[in-house]
Amino acid sequence: MVSRVKTVAFHGIEAVPVDVQVMVAPGKVGIQIVGLPDKAVAESRERVQAALHASGLSMPPKKVTVNLAPADLPKEGSHYDLPIALGLMVALGAVPSDTLAGYCVLGELSLDGMITPVAGVLPAAMRANTLEMGLICPAKCGPEAAWASADMPIVAARSLIQIANHFRGTQVIARPEPAIRSAPANLADLAEIKGQIVAKRALEISAAGGHNLLMVGPPGSGKSMLAQRLASILPPLAPRELLEVSMIASIAGELSGGKLSDRRPFRSPHHSASMAAMVGGGLRARPGEVSLAHRGVLFLDELPEFSPIVLDSLRQPLEGGESVIARANHRVTYPAKFQLIAAMNPCRCGMAGEPGYRCPRGARCAGEYQSRISGPLLDRIDLRVEVPAVTASDLIRPAPAEASAAVLARVVAARSRQADRFAALGLPAETLNAHCAASMIETVASVDRPGTQLLHDAAEQMKFSARAYHRILKVARTLADLDQADSVQRVHLAEAISYRIAGERLAAAA
Ligand SMILES: Nc1ncnc2c1ncn2[C@@H]1O[C@H](COP(=O)(O)OP(=O)(O)O)[C@@H](O)[C@H]1O
Ligand SMILES: [Mg+2]
Repeated sequence: MVSRVKTVAFHGIEAVPVDVQVMVAPGKVGIQIVGLPDKAVAESRERVQAALHASGLSMPPKKVTVNLAPADLPKEGSHYDLPIALGLMVALGAVPSDTLAGYCVLGELSLDGMITPVAGVLPAAMRANTLEMGLICPAKCGPEAAWASADMPIVAARSLIQIANHFRGTQVIARPEPAIRSAPANLADLAEIKGQIVAKRALEISAAGGHNLLMVGPPGSGKSMLAQRLASILPPLAPRELLEVSMIASIAGELSGGKLSDRRPFRSPHHSASMAAMVGGGLRARPGEVSLAHRGVLFLDELPEFSPIVLDSLRQPLEGGESVIARANHRVTYPAKFQLIAAMNPCRCGMAGEPGYRCPRGARCAGEYQSRISGPLLDRIDLRVEVPAVTASDLIRPAPAEASAAVLARVVAARSRQADRFAALGLPAETLNAHCAASMIETVASVDRPGTQLLHDAAEQMKFSARAYHRILKVARTLADLDQADSVQRVHLAEAISYRIAGERLAAAA
């Protein structure tokens, strides 16, 4: 007899249905798993046997064959334990065979028969819901699964015995409630930063339009401080974005306690991060930092300290909004629409360009340091600002600084203008100026006559690349949105170009 249990395999953030077929037949005693399992799936055999034994079910002295269909789809991870165990329990008569038909099952087993949390429960639940099925998952992942739908049946169990009792009707498990992680009460505020008006303005523009930003300045001028306060001027995730972002976190196993949060992700990987950690992949396909920062911020502090190969691997996700990972026999794609915020010192000793400072390593110090960042990567950074050391007067008797709440209000207003505009053009409402296609930006950023002249002169003199030209238009569009202006004016273009030039100087020094 063959018993069947439904589960899923993950392909990117998509859950693909997989059929677990279990057959108990006379033959050599033992369990064999077929259907392209990876090492973690193959090890399932030992866990399932031990867990069943601990739950008081002895394995039949027969040959057990487990097939994971479709056989050509690679299966990774440890979540196949539970469907295999339940398939065996059906075959052994411990669970009535028809009860599992309407459920998708995933979970890892420990040797004592308890069910331990696995990654990917949210996408699995969403998929089960579209197939009009219920979900059986680990108890700890229940709150996460409950987000998929308010009325799909969910059995979030602690142990194999609990599942058996649930389906026999002796001890029914209550449906879990969706859980939300409360927003941190006191985010660091922009008001704490003294001076740095230009950098604060750039931070606001970058929050409003989703633009990439590079801050260059000597140590201790407040670059890291500024970047960390970006979180306080970003609006919360819209419901659709929330699910998308949480699906990625779920696949990566980063949804602690199954709780979702509407805060935009803020990822700040260390500069020793490997390419697999940054763009995804590795032994097991999993999303990297660029995907975990989807719809939020990727903050790279001390940018030139990152390995040049890692930095260059950012180019593709920065341009395409997704990261593509080539595996042995297939390709995996994760969404990666993030905003890059980078900070760096102007040279290794940190003081290049400071008035009266002569670098002991000579003039080459700054050039060598900055050349670690390739031109194509720099080209994708729309806003570049110098963050000079705070002046004594700013430090000691600072002018009152604006609080994050006031800046956030302007950012929200600018974003809602963008949402209206892009929705009218049939694009998703969460589109930002920075994500707008090059062909589209020319239509949405209609430049007035003095602006066109300025753009013409600047392009002529500074030899912009086509990408630079479009990126300037995008920033100018955001500046106009912050001004609540319909058309892009000369002042907006002039300011957008000024942020570009700061970087051209940087490139020239390199
Ligand atoms: N503009 C500023 N206003 C207030 N404090 C500042 C400012 N810049 C730096 N500091 C102080 O210096 C410390 C170091 O700043 P940090 O942001 O780490 O500098 P950087 O990243 O530019 O090297 C901060 O924790 C803060 O106490
Ligand atoms: Mg710093």
